Amino acid sequence: MSINKIEDLRKRKAKIIEAGGKKRIEKQHESGKLTARERMLLLFDENTFVELDAFMKHRCTNFGMEKVDAPAEGVVTGYGYVDGRLVYAYAQDFTVVGGSLGEMHAAKICKVMDNALKVGAPVVGLNDSGGARIQEAVDALSGYGKIFFKNTLASGVIPQITAIMGPCAGGAVYSPALTDFTFMVDQTSQMFITGPQVIKTVTGEEVSAEALGGAMTHNSVSGVAHFMSANDEVCIAEIRRLLDFLPSNNMENPPVFETGDDVNTIVEALDTLMPDNPNKAYDMHDIIRQIVDNGDFMEYMPHYAKNILTGFARVGGQSIGIIANQPKFLAGCLDINASDKSGRFIRTCDAFNIPLLNIVDVPGFLPGTTQEYGGIIRHGAKMLYAYSEATVPKITLIVRKAYGGAYLAMCSKDLGADLVLAWPTAEIAVMGPQGAANIIFRKEISEATDAAAERAKKVQEYTDEFATPYKAAERGFVDDVIEPSATRPRIADALNMLSSKRETRPAKKHGNVPL
Ligand code: HXC
Repeated sequence: MSINKIEDLRKRKAKIIEAGGKKRIEKQHESGKLTARERMLLLFDENTFVELDAFMKHRCTNFGMEKVDAPAEGVVTGYGYVDGRLVYAYAQDFTVVGGSLGEMHAAKICKVMDNALKVGAPVVGLNDSGGARIQEAVDALSGYGKIFFKNTLASGVIPQITAIMGPCAGGAVYSPALTDFTFMVDQTSQMFITGPQVIKTVTGEEVSAEALGGAMTHNSVSGVAHFMSANDEVCIAEIRRLLDFLPSNNMENPPVFETGDDVNTIVEALDTLMPDNPNKAYDMHDIIRQIVDNGDFMEYMPHYAKNILTGFARVGGQSIGIIANQPKFLAGCLDINASDKSGRFIRTCDAFNIPLLNIVDVPGFLPGTTQEYGGIIRHGAKMLYAYSEATVPKITLIVRKAYGGAYLAMCSKDLGADLVLAWPTAEIAVMGPQGAANIIFRKEISEATDAAAERAKKVQEYTDEFATPYKAAERGFVDDVIEPSATRPRIADALNMLSSKRETRPAKKHGNVPL
């Protein structure tokens, strides 16, 4: 081959790597953002990124587009390795026509998804785009439509992770929403269906882009995003961390990592952690940290519905998903947002063969018209459905309150828990002692000469009888009552014991999860 042809190839590649040019790259950096290629290099293990389709070009001739050279079509695509495991990715390049998505830009993304599905590898999408390329009209819209369709096909087969690292407006927001995990970078990313200007014109409302669709808004208010990062580097490091908890596809188990933390450790601190007063709050993180390897807990949606904690951790190197009531917020009650958050998390874990550990301290569902009118019945049903549907190992640990419907909703034996452990501090009943005494002893209390003393006596009777794990253990709803200090070894042992669990369900097209 003539050397000129090789030089020609090198020149072509060098031109593509220049992307939108020096000025636009500088602007990208000044706004606190990395470029698409910088992001890809950070995502993958050193020297493993292989770029594909760098030569692809748009074929739009509207509004002067025939003169626009768009290196790599405004999206860098390819594959590489994350901690030695194959991952496909795309990164939209804002320096090239604003990262806008046209027919061929979408075709590149679709190709990544098709390839990833073929080989069973996760897809990571790094979004930074002005949305549908306006000059390409319906071809751009069709591009989004194809991506949405493929997102749905891949759902539950390969993990799909999206990071919003710049603008993401209009229908463009729906691809991230269809994926399993959405990250947002603080201050530099925004997601909205209609932007501040349109809102002002239509409704007269004035709102900044950040308040409308910034990272904190979607992490704490709307629940659209699951993770928030301080900058691009942290965001990409967190995506790598998340991938380590996940299998490459639904036919595999998550990777087991040697964490160096002995699972046989008896954690004395757990014996004294629970407050004597059953109404006193404590931080559920303190229990989780003592149970999991090296106290490492990657929290999912940490800013949303803080009354329930969800996230990934390891016990004995084995990846698990944790759902735990948080007594520090709303006394750990279940409400609409907590149900949505945990329902989604349970289904994500089940889809990807990640065992569930449910840590229960729940006084009940949050009362009130806001909850009832908001459809807590419909939302709470998602949790019941998700737990009942899940066939991964399900381990439930009741540490204190487990009352009424919320006891069931936190994966009781009847919802298919494979092992239910309880601490001696567990209280499992239809309702708490105060409420129960007022109802079942109403007559005795009202007829007593000293009603207050009679109520106190009856509350104590009820507490002694029911506010314990032993009634539930007598019926086999609790498999064992354990000393809190032995929790970590018991959970590790349960994960081993359940590792070969297989459960088949009646054949169906798909279930009808309440939405
Ligand atoms: C074509 C676009 C573009 C787009 C940006 N550009 N968005 N080109 N189609 N959608 C180009 C700009 O012309 C500019 O080109 C370059 O990208 C950088 O854009 P700037 O405006 O200079 O950048 P900035 O000031 O940072 O503003 C970024 C922005 C703004 C907020 C994203 O560009 C913007 O509002 N764009 C339009 C957003 C939008 O309405 N998109 C359609 C959404 S609806 P030059 O050559 O000057 O560098 C949608 C429907 C999807 O996406 C439906 C799916 C079902």
